[in-house]
Amino acid sequence: MNLGTSVLKVTRVGILKGRLLAAVSTLLIGSSVFAATIKIGEVGSMTGSEATFGISTHEGIELAIKEQNAKGGIKGQKIELISLDDQGKPEEAAIATTKLITQDKVVAILGEVASSRSLAMAPIAQKYKVPMISPSSTNPKVTAVGDHIFRVCFIDPFQGAVMAKFASENLKAKKVAIFRDVKSDYSVGLSDFFKEAFLKAGGEVVVDQSYSSGEVDFNSQLTSIRAKKPDVIFLPGYYTEVGLIAKQARKLGIKAAILGGDGWDSEKLYEIGGKSLNNSYFSNHYSQDDQTPAVQSFIATYKKAYNKIPDGLGALGYDAARVLFAAMETTKTGSTAEVQGALAKTKDFQGVTGKITMDEMRNATKSAVVLEVKDGKFLYKTTINP
Ligand code: PHE
Repeated sequence: MNLGTSVLKVTRVGILKGRLLAAVSTLLIGSSVFAATIKIGEVGSMTGSEATFGISTHEGIELAIKEQNAKGGIKGQKIELISLDDQGKPEEAAIATTKLITQDKVVAILGEVASSRSLAMAPIAQKYKVPMISPSSTNPKVTAVGDHIFRVCFIDPFQGAVMAKFASENLKAKKVAIFRDVKSDYSVGLSDFFKEAFLKAGGEVVVDQSYSSGEVDFNSQLTSIRAKKPDVIFLPGYYTEVGLIAKQARKLGIKAAILGGDGWDSEKLYEIGGKSLNNSYFSNHYSQDDQTPAVQSFIATYKKAYNKIPDGLGALGYDAARVLFAAMETTKTGSTAEVQGALAKTKDFQGVTGKITMDEMRNATKSAVVLEVKDGKFLYKTTINP
């Protein structure tokens, strides 16, 4: 990886000015007690076919840092974010993680969104004992890597059950087709969890097809799916392929409802799939229609900063950063060991995406929302509690 070009942006929010202080901060990195700033790393897909994941998350994190630094930082020390772009590639995410830990000496890492990339990062963070918080990776294996790996979102056994329940109860579906991305740990896991729950509810899986992210022609798999006449297609992919698949499915005359998970959450989804996405539903971490004051005030602040409504990733990035700051504030020295211990004790933290409590596996138990895609809008349908 050419780190020179892959560094999206080093956001030095509130960094202390002056040569001397800069030199001091360089000399004493790793010792957060004396360093001029507290360094936090971020790894995300700022470019590539999942770029909105990285960008939205980054914006949420940046907002949280600005607010925290405006309050004086953490115990008087300003937070500095070092943000690296992995271009959506697990191997780049791993390289970025090593760099953040060994060269930049960050106290903690925020990221990644995609489970496959978090899975590439987690063993490194665990080995160096640097806490890593994924805002949004939902595959159970991510936090199972070790006691330094946390997340602030729900996990896929729950998300799969949510969509199985929605398919059987709300849509009265009996026969489903599954169409999974075999290159994505997220997609494979979520497909399996959905399948298990849907079979338990008395439904039938009439066909289970696969694709690999990066492909653009899905006609042969969709033709096999069409032949089985499913009531619903479960498509737990990321937005770029989902948009293309929806388009090609409708062109083939498939009218069945298309269902998916949080990986659909992008402003690009509709740009790619257009009206083919009508009659589609996906589970997500938050809805912008939620009238809770905390949610609406976050939306207002975000809108002011970025001139757009935040998606779920912006909200989760914001929550992940704030959970980290809250933990750091309770420590004496801010060492990685203390931060790890404090994160594990996170309890009833009021986030934009709900109340966050770390369970013994460092996962958060939260409710999910189901959204309908309609003419480019994500309409709130229902909330499903754990
Ligand atoms: N949950 C997805 C994964 O684990 C990532 C994701 C979360 C994508 C939220 C979009 C929105 O890979």
